[in-house]
Amino acid sequence: MELNDVVRTTFAARDYTGEPLSDETLYDILETARFAPSGGNRQGNRVIVVRDAETRNSLAELAVPAAKRYMAQINLGESPWNAVVPTKATPEQIEATPAAGLLTEPFRAASVVLVFVVDLKVVASMDQDLDRVGIVSGASVYPFVWNVCLLARQAGFGGTITTLAIAQEPKIRELLNIPPDFGVCAIVPMGKPVKQLTKLRRNPVEDIAVYERFDGDAFTKD
Ligand SMILES: Cc1cc2nc3c(=O)[nH]c(=O)nc-3n(C[C@H](O)[C@H](O)[C@H](O)COP(=O)(O)O)c2cc1C
Repeated sequence: MELNDVVRTTFAARDYTGEPLSDETLYDILETARFAPSGGNRQGNRVIVVRDAETRNSLAELAVPAAKRYMAQINLGESPWNAVVPTKATPEQIEATPAAGLLTEPFRAASVVLVFVVDLKVVASMDQDLDRVGIVSGASVYPFVWNVCLLARQAGFGGTITTLAIAQEPKIRELLNIPPDFGVCAIVPMGKPVKQLTKLRRNPVEDIAVYERFDGDAFTKD
């Protein structure tokens, strides 16, 4: 596939045929994905390749509480898990809301689940003293994660970047023996997608790019 087509069609794959994604194919994906950049080239990324069904089941269960809140907020028309606008969902509402299967079942159905962690002792966090939620640290991690997703797409496989279970990071740490100085960044179930989506819903360039200043005119070709 052309790079352009890969970038335009790498979707969140959550339904898998059951066809295995072999260690050999996964190795090739990681072998190329590792060329992703990181702040200062510190390369604090590690990835845990989880195939064990019981562990994948535990990861699915760990996503449930966050998935319940996610769905409760969706039902209220909120942006789930946003750190700026507080939720109006009560603990009782959250508890009474079921976790949608699409947020938990991919871990059980996947051929493999990749757990991406980063060494917090080397990751660069230039926004650490700002009065807002941290964003910059993720930039040393997600290029690698997304490379894996793109390369999996090219190889005919697919997955979804997931983060819900990370709300329970201490339990993931215990489950996978992750040391305290590593943070969990993404949990990516992968397999052979039942359907390959080719048209993704994304905002046009004119809605996301502007000239010169934030309040500048929309960026266009002409
Ligand atoms: C940072 C991030 C966190 C995400 N967390 C979850 C998650 O916890 N569970 C999930 O099912 N999907 C998760 N997603 C997947 C998004 O919902 C998905 O990429 C988005 O809806 C676009 O889907 P599409 O490519 O199929 O159009 C996450 C995606 C990103 C980039």
